[in-house]
Amino acid sequence: MTQDIETHETDVLVIGAGGAGLSAAISAAEQGADVAVVCKSLLGKAHTVMAEGGIAASLGNVEPADDWQAHFLDTMKGGWGLNDPTMAEIHAKESPERVRTLQEWGAIFDRTEDGDIHQRPFGGHRHDRLAHVGDRTGLELIRTLQDKAVAEGIDVYQECYVTNLLQTDDAVAGACGFWRQDGAPILFRAPAVILASGGLGKMYRISSNSWEYTADGHAMALRNGAELIDMAFVQFHPTGMVWPKSVQGTLVTEGVRGEGGILLNADGERFMFDYVPTEYEGSVAADEAEADRWVAGDEDARPPPELLTRDVVARAILNEVAEGRGSEHGGAYLDIANQRSADYIMQKLPAMVHQFRELAEIDITEEPMQVAPTCHYMMGGIRVDPETQETSVPGLYASGEVAGGLHGANRLGGNSLSDLLVFGNRAGVAAGEAVTGAETPQVDDSQVERYLAGLEAPFDTDPDRGVDPFDLHAELQAVMEEYVGIMRDEDRLSTGIERLESLQDRVENVRATGARTYNPGWEKCFAVENMILAGLAVAHAARAREESRGAHSRVDFPDPDEDWGNIELTVSMRDGEIHLDRDAVPEPRDELQEMLAADAGLEAEAE
Ligand code: FUM
Repeated sequence: MTQDIETHETDVLVIGAGGAGLSAAISAAEQGADVAVVCKSLLGKAHTVMAEGGIAASLGNVEPADDWQAHFLDTMKGGWGLNDPTMAEIHAKESPERVRTLQEWGAIFDRTEDGDIHQRPFGGHRHDRLAHVGDRTGLELIRTLQDKAVAEGIDVYQECYVTNLLQTDDAVAGACGFWRQDGAPILFRAPAVILASGGLGKMYRISSNSWEYTADGHAMALRNGAELIDMAFVQFHPTGMVWPKSVQGTLVTEGVRGEGGILLNADGERFMFDYVPTEYEGSVAADEAEADRWVAGDEDARPPPELLTRDVVARAILNEVAEGRGSEHGGAYLDIANQRSADYIMQKLPAMVHQFRELAEIDITEEPMQVAPTCHYMMGGIRVDPETQETSVPGLYASGEVAGGLHGANRLGGNSLSDLLVFGNRAGVAAGEAVTGAETPQVDDSQVERYLAGLEAPFDTDPDRGVDPFDLHAELQAVMEEYVGIMRDEDRLSTGIERLESLQDRVENVRATGARTYNPGWEKCFAVENMILAGLAVAHAARAREESRGAHSRVDFPDPDEDWGNIELTVSMRDGEIHLDRDAVPEPRDELQEMLAADAGLEAEAE
């Protein structure tokens, strides 16, 4: 029976066709490898497009003082020191080159008057650093990579859901899944597999993520012996739409604040001045007058507090709402209409103008938006070698959002697009080089038979098998929101873990009905199982981490704790159970240590 399955052999199999997957695929192909890309959705439909405001890279086109060192320091500070320093260094050094390469491949960026790539300010970046295409940067990046991948002749398998990795001995040997259009199983044999499957945002109800982001890569990696790190750190982007309910969570780009948009509470107060953490006191405007001067282009003025890092701004909005100063629909007002002319807004933020006009019947050139935090990004992910992106499973690589390490406790806006270009490229090069001369691995029939049985199981008509996967997903989202959301404490997290464990028991009996043709219930059976497992990883890591740092806020431990300052929690599976280890974050090499110390000293002086 296993010999009847549609089977493909390739050198490098890339799972996921967002920015990280396409970058990896192109680079692996450039090494001479035969490459196949498989994606659950349509090519180009990726969360990459939700990084709207720009790509962070120290090109220095707008502020010549910018350099890789400044980008490295900002990334480390934004990540509260939990970042893998080698990844942060590589990322800062290689981003400019990746952006230029993207331009050579046809990406059309906004321009400075001198004709260079324009760069805009973003939260936590000390210089204007985000190369952008209006507020549609991710879309342009995907378009460019897609064209390039097609031109390279890379095989693409669209609407094909990969549910399992295959292994021989301890190494990866390929993957298997099914075609969404008819449910037929498909198998790929490959000596190298790159996971670029993105995040897990659909485990939360209010999310900027679309339906595809169901922790498939995190869960498959965990089940196959890889480790996850930093899983406590889920990024809630401060500005998602709150109204109408049908589009709640849709991203409102940070570019709005980068272009001068301000946050107001129901009393009309510009509240972010009340939420400046000590660490950032010297780096943001002291008052509205200075912030106004910054908007007017005064080079000596510091940026407004609306451009503090995302963790800080998200908590501030939540606090305003909790204290009764929320907007009509339970968020904050984001006003650009009174800061910039309609023409300027149309030119810099056309997608936002369109989005609010179409979805909320609001003209943002005339009136404020209402915004509140939305689950946007996972800082944690699969532990990888910083140079090659190989995981602890030989032959298995990970890049983009599914990989951990670069962002530490909080990611700076714009660093996701540069991450996926830099480390997608590195994963592709490393995998492409590693497979030179490698044999296509054999996969034993028993693995494939187990896989086929698992695929059919949800259609089993046993009366015990009656759990509706849609109900389970809704319950999961409610549990994550209530017990593992932005504000956490020991009791809530413990209850959350209990509830998640009970969902995990029930997921064994999920039931699919109907045909195999585009059956969302059947697909959901696999997705919800993955999200529950990853949700448990988040909840366990969050409960163990008894401090607040970056995106992880413990009400019962409200401050960062020095003892946790260099600890990353590693999640692995042992005997089918989640296991946690405390590991030391890798030390920065001496030169980086000196840079970090000098920067901290300068900041202390500025305060
Ligand atoms: O707000 C944004 O445009 C998102 C950017 C990002 O997540 O990097």
